[in-house]
Amino acid sequence: MSNLNQDWPEPIVRVQSLSESGCPVIPSRYIKPLPDRPTSSAVASAALNIPIIDVHAFSLDQDHSLRRTILNQVSDACRNWGFFQIINHGIRPELLDDIRRAWHDFFKLPVETKQVYANSPKTYEGYGSRLGVQKGAILDWSDYFFLHYLPPRLKDHNKWPAAPPCIRELIEEYGEEIVKLGGRLLELLSVNLGLPEGYLQNTFGGQDVGACLRVNYYPKCPQPELTLGLSSHSDPGGLTLLLPDDKVAGLQVRKDNKWITVKPAPHAIIVNVGDQVQVLSNAIYRSVEHRVIVNSEKERVSLAFFYNPKSDIPIEPAKELITRDKPALYSPMTFDEYRLYIRMRGPQGKSQVDSLKSPR
Ligand code: OGA
Ligand code: NI
Repeated sequence: MSNLNQDWPEPIVRVQSLSESGCPVIPSRYIKPLPDRPTSSAVASAALNIPIIDVHAFSLDQDHSLRRTILNQVSDACRNWGFFQIINHGIRPELLDDIRRAWHDFFKLPVETKQVYANSPKTYEGYGSRLGVQKGAILDWSDYFFLHYLPPRLKDHNKWPAAPPCIRELIEEYGEEIVKLGGRLLELLSVNLGLPEGYLQNTFGGQDVGACLRVNYYPKCPQPELTLGLSSHSDPGGLTLLLPDDKVAGLQVRKDNKWITVKPAPHAIIVNVGDQVQVLSNAIYRSVEHRVIVNSEKERVSLAFFYNPKSDIPIEPAKELITRDKPALYSPMTFDEYRLYIRMRGPQGKSQVDSLKSPR
């Protein structure tokens, strides 16, 4: 795991600068092998979408039948999709618009201003343009900014952007709301798994959960058919709460070996199950592969908030979900250990969680 203590294996090139250079061809480093290109696998009918769940009754705890309906919808979505979008989640739409705009404006700042936050594979915090430290790897068509929100010990405002104005306050407010939402979703998942309401939150470390934000910036691409904004992967953490771009589609979810392009509802938050929930649920819920395609017309910004277990607790299938017929599928591993894989090798479909299968 040593090379994470060093720097990137090659000089970093900002994808934004490639895009803005106006060059009509992309460098070969971004050209994906044929089977990985956006059009080489089947894309589902444009009418198909991930489920949309109205969770307004989150705030009406006394209404049991409404709560039951939401529980059932979330249960179906977790079992059949691993991905869904929630509307009426209680986060102010203006906050969503403001934080999206602030991050858009951040990426529009001069490169020297952003360069101050240039990241390294040691912690990944800051402004980055690759995931994984393998020399010669084929890269994705995106830049990003990664920061810690929880635990408080890792939260460091000096590592967050100082501009545009108010961006730190917006991240604070959005983080607080998203963490509340993540906690509520974990309750729904726990109940749906037949566990006590607080089970997953407690297993995640109670008040000591981890939460971090990855803001993705996908610049326009002159040859979008040859590359991906983000290669196929499942999210390594617990739950992901994604604020997608409100104008530009790009996220695709794998379902029955076809790619479905997500059509976000206005002000929806997209939720997906990460590898840690797959492990904890003993694969009753499975993390799902997803990727991002780019286009030549419009750039795209998305905010992925990762709600993760405390990083040094071994995560393993819940004892309550292990039976003689369904033995534990995974050996225990801390999230710190788990995360090293993606941090070294970059996005690799579901190969990581599949490699965890205990030898039985
Ligand atoms: C991610 C991710 C999707 C998107 O950051 O892990 O899957 O739409 N992002 O940017
Ligand atoms: Ni993801």
